[in-house]
Amino acid sequence: MSHPNHVAIIMDGNGRWAAQRGWSRIKGHKAGVRSVEDVLEAALAEGIGHLSLFAFSTENWKRPGQEVASLMALLRMYLRMFRRRFIEKGIRFHHLGAIEGMPEGIQRDLKDLEAATAAHPGMVFHLALNYGSRLELVQAARRCVEDGLAPEAITEEALGARLWTGDAPDVDLLIRTSGELRLSNFLLWQSAYAEFYVTETLWPDFGAAQLREALAAYHQRERRFGGL
Ligand code: IPE
Ligand code: IPE
Ligand code: MG
Repeated sequence: MSHPNHVAIIMDGNGRWAAQRGWSRIKGHKAGVRSVEDVLEAALAEGIGHLSLFAFSTENWKRPGQEVASLMALLRMYLRMFRRRFIEKGIRFHHLGAIEGMPEGIQRDLKDLEAATAAHPGMVFHLALNYGSRLELVQAARRCVEDGLAPEAITEEALGARLWTGDAPDVDLLIRTSGELRLSNFLLWQSAYAEFYVTETLWPDFGAAQLREALAAYHQRERRFGGL
């Protein structure tokens, strides 16, 4: 079997990684950025077409204000740092989520990154921020109405094209770190036939070697898509 074209990762376990060391949760998030760098490089080297990372859910606003504020500050800093890398490597950046719910400065950064990299032919890097699959489906349904679609014109293709993922292919391999066996509202529609890979490894300990292990596991799977 060929490599997965679309790899999606639920990056989980930053808080537990920090707690194991007696550190604040935000230190775990900082360490997690290094994993993003490693995985991004490894995915590029492996020729993955689409890499989707879940960084902040529509439900994560429930966390203490201090943690949310620190996460937003970190994000701002790293979006700027990653900009040069995306340009150097020809990576196309794409945000998944309700952008209007993000702080204004970050909205500008996200739009700027998307515009600056839109013509890039290489890997597409989808970053899910203020992302929730149910909200995505609701906004896609609203768009069908706004676009004046007749009931019979609301097909899987028509709805799928109005999701934030747009014309990105379905997820082939869905990875979750930290051992949790749930989707937590990530890419429900797009993962209909995804292969699941859960590792106990906490996100800050996940890197190129762990991504390759997940790819190797994927190659052992037999995908049937409901057929025989
Ligand atoms: C994942 O790590 C990152 C975000 C959700 C922002 P967590 O912060 O969920 O870490 P745990 O699950 O509490 O260990
Ligand atoms: C899922 O992780 C969201 C992200 C990785 C951004 P959570 O830590 O928020 O998920 P739950 O609460 O354990 O389901
Ligand atoms: Mg978590």
